[in-house]
Amino acid sequence: MDKKWWQKAVFYEIYCKSFCDSDGDGLGDLKGVMSKLPMLKELGIDCIWFTPIYTSPQVDNGYDVADYYDIDPRYGTLEDFKELLDKAHSLGIKVIMDQVLNHSSDECVWFRESRKSKDNPYRNYYIWQPPKADGTPPNNWGSYFREGDGSAWEFDETTGEYYLHQYAIKMPDLNWEYQPLRQEIYKMLRWWLDMGVDGFRLDVFTRLKKPAGFPDTKKAPDPKLDRNGFVVDPSMCTMQEGIHEILHDMWVNVFSKYPNCMTVGEGTGITPENAPEYIAPSCEEIDSAYHFNLASRKRPPFTVAEFRDIQMRWFKTMEHGVWPSNYFSNHDSRRQVTYYGDDGEYRRESAKLLAVLSCTAPGNVYLFQGEEIGMTNVQYDRIEEHDCCYTLGDYYSMVAKGATPQEAMAYVGPRSRDNARAPYHWNDSENAGFTTGKPWLKVNPNYPEINLEADRKHPQSIFAFYQKLLKLRKENPAVYDGDLRFYREDSDKVIVYTRSCPEQTMLVIANKSGDTLPVELPEELTRHSWKRILTNREETAPSLEGGRGWLPWEVEVYVR
Ligand code: BGC
Repeated sequence: MDKKWWQKAVFYEIYCKSFCDSDGDGLGDLKGVMSKLPMLKELGIDCIWFTPIYTSPQVDNGYDVADYYDIDPRYGTLEDFKELLDKAHSLGIKVIMDQVLNHSSDECVWFRESRKSKDNPYRNYYIWQPPKADGTPPNNWGSYFREGDGSAWEFDETTGEYYLHQYAIKMPDLNWEYQPLRQEIYKMLRWWLDMGVDGFRLDVFTRLKKPAGFPDTKKAPDPKLDRNGFVVDPSMCTMQEGIHEILHDMWVNVFSKYPNCMTVGEGTGITPENAPEYIAPSCEEIDSAYHFNLASRKRPPFTVAEFRDIQMRWFKTMEHGVWPSNYFSNHDSRRQVTYYGDDGEYRRESAKLLAVLSCTAPGNVYLFQGEEIGMTNVQYDRIEEHDCCYTLGDYYSMVAKGATPQEAMAYVGPRSRDNARAPYHWNDSENAGFTTGKPWLKVNPNYPEINLEADRKHPQSIFAFYQKLLKLRKENPAVYDGDLRFYREDSDKVIVYTRSCPEQTMLVIANKSGDTLPVELPEELTRHSWKRILTNREETAPSLEGGRGWLPWEVEVYVR
C-alpha cells in the first residue's frame, strides 16, 4: 500500500533551549541547531519536530506563546528559521512545528486586548466567567501547575471576572466556541504552511473543548497535592463532547488544503479503543497521535506483558487506518534508559534494546534528543535547580501540606521533566560543549563520560547502532507494512515478535532484563533459516538456539 511521506519517517524532537548554544547566552538557539544538521543527517532521521520556538515569556518553556508569528529572540529570528528550514530541506530533512492551540501566553496581544474590557473585540478569544455570588472562582477546578491558591481560574481586577487557565496563571485557555478565534488560528496555521513547514504537532489537542456551564468536578482531591478545595481533574476538559467538531473544522479549513502536511496530536485520553474516532483518515481530523500508554512520566515503567498487550492493541487499530506514533521519552518525561532500561552497567545495551523496540514498532517513531547517545536522568539535590512548572507546583504544594523539603524532593526529583530537558552532551569540554556561558539548566555531571564525541569513538557506540537501525527501518518493508505477532508470551523478561509482510518477515528478540536467559523459541520460528541484521551483542554468534543463553539486555533483529 502506498504510504505518505510521514508514515515512513523517523521524527527527532529538538528541545531548542537545551540543544546547542551558538552565542554563549546559556540557551540553545537556531544557529546552534543549524550547525548540527549534518549530524542529524548522519544519524538518519527524516523530520525534525521543534517544540515551541515562538516568542514567549518562557513560563512553560515556549508552551506559552506570546506571538504565534515570530521566533523568540532568544532562539534567533524568523530569517534564521527560514534559513534553517531551507538547509534542512536541502538535506532531505522535513520540519514540523509545535502548535499550542489550547492556550496562549497572557502576553499575547489577543489576551492583552481581551482583558481590557468586556466589549473588547478580543474578549471572547478567551474564557471569562463572573465570580460566584460569594466572589469565589466559577468552579472547583485546580490548575495542573498548582500555582497561587491552586485554582484554574484567575481573577482579573480590570473587568471583575475570572479567566480559565488549565495550566499556568500566565497561560489563559483559548475559546474555541468563538468563530473569530478559530479563523485567527487557521490563518496562522496556513501562514506557517505557506512558508514551507511540513506539518504540526498539536499540543494537548484533546482539551480544546470545555464542558458547557463549567460544572464542578466530583473527583476527590489528591491529599498530597491538591489545595484549598481546588481539584486537578483532567477529565473535565479532555475529550469533551464536541471535540470532533472542532478538529474536523480545523481539518476542513487548513489541513485538507495542504495534502503533504502532516499532523500529530498530543493529548491524554487517547487509547487504542478511541483512536479510530480521531485519527482514522475517514474522520478527517488529524493524521496520527502519540499514546501515553507506555511512556508517561506518571506511570510505573512498563512490564513486558504490558508492552505486548499495548503494542498489540495499537497494532489492531491499524485495521481502521490508524497510524500510531511511538515514543518512550520526550521533553515531558524521564530519560528512557534510566526509566525503562539500566543506566548503570548495561546502559549501552539497554539504550539499544529500547531503540529497537520503538523503531520496529508499527507506526511512526519519535526520538528525543540525547537518546542516540544514551543520556540519563539527572540527580537533582535542591528545588532551586529545577525549572519545570509541574515540579515546582508539586514541590510547593507538598511543602505547604507539611512535607519536609527532603520528602518533597524525593517525590518530585525523579518525576521531573527537567531530567529530559537538561542540556545535550556534545563533548567533554566544560558544560558538555553545550554552551560557553552559564547553562540555563543544570548539565548532568556525567557528561565527561556520556557525550556524543566519546560515544562515536566507542566500539559499542549507541549513535552508530541508531544509524544502522534507522537504515534498516528504511530498507525493510516489514517495519512499516508488516503484521505484528508476539511469541513466548509466558515470559516476563523476553519480548519476541515478528513483523511480516508479503516480501519478508522480521524477527525481534529482546531480553529486557539484567539476567542471562536460555530462551527456547517455538519450532515455527527455529525451523526457518534467518539472517541476523542487527545485534547489540557483537560477541554472540547469530543463533536462535535457546541453549546458548540470551545475554542481559541483548537484542537482535533477524530477517528471512
Ligand atoms: C507539552 C508540555 C506543556 C503542556 C502545556 C504538553 O503536553 O508537551 O510540555 O507543558 O502541553 O502546553
